Amino acid sequence: MPHRFPNLCLVRHPLIAHKLSFIRERHTNSRDFRRLLSEIAALMTYEAFREFTTSPCEVETPLERASAERITAPITIVPVLRAGLGMTRGVLDLVPEARVGHIGIRRDETTALPIGYYTRLPADIASGPVILVDPMLATGGSSSHALTILRDAGCMDLRLICLVAAPEGVGRLLLDHPTVRVYAAALDRELDEDCFIRPGLGDAGDRAYGTE
Ligand code: PRP
Repeated sequence: MPHRFPNLCLVRHPLIAHKLSFIRERHTNSRDFRRLLSEIAALMTYEAFREFTTSPCEVETPLERASAERITAPITIVPVLRAGLGMTRGVLDLVPEARVGHIGIRRDETTALPIGYYTRLPADIASGPVILVDPMLATGGSSSHALTILRDAGCMDLRLICLVAAPEGVGRLLLDHPTVRVYAAALDRELDEDCFIRPGLGDAGDRAYGTE
């Protein structure tokens, strides 16, 4: 179904839809939840890299020299703690040479406003593309805060991969960071009065780490 957000790329694929159905399921345990988070992240990485620039190079095959292409810019993955950590393995499976930065943000349970508590990024992070990963885009406060930290570090080439997005969060990022492309597996219906995504998949951090 078409949507109204120019910054949103909905990644539709039968394998992603299949795995998303299990990760939404309330009876899926932490072990399976973590596995699915990682697997869906890997599948979405494939799509998020579609517009990456490659440089021509020459390689020596066992038979002759051949023209080839490589991504040469240093890539950094930045999970938003905690739930984004569960996606990192899946992205690294496809891009093992990537560096990993970390941004710790938790949402205040009363106000739903983001509180940053940790940032550790590669010193030259701005020299290449950055992929922010967080399974949930609810109000958009946490992702917007993380993207502001990355912009302040000089990053220009930014993308966000999430699993489930609320229209409110996508709209917030369109206002705050209009040039950042958001890759999501699903655009859900709405936020409820507690700012939880509906139908959503619950609290991804708690489900992944068994802290409910
Ligand atoms: C969740 C989620 C996002 C954020 C989304 O994290 O993983 O980071 O909330 O909400 P927002 O778009 O309204 O900001 P949470 O605060 O539960 O922290 P946790 O991952 O450490 O549990």
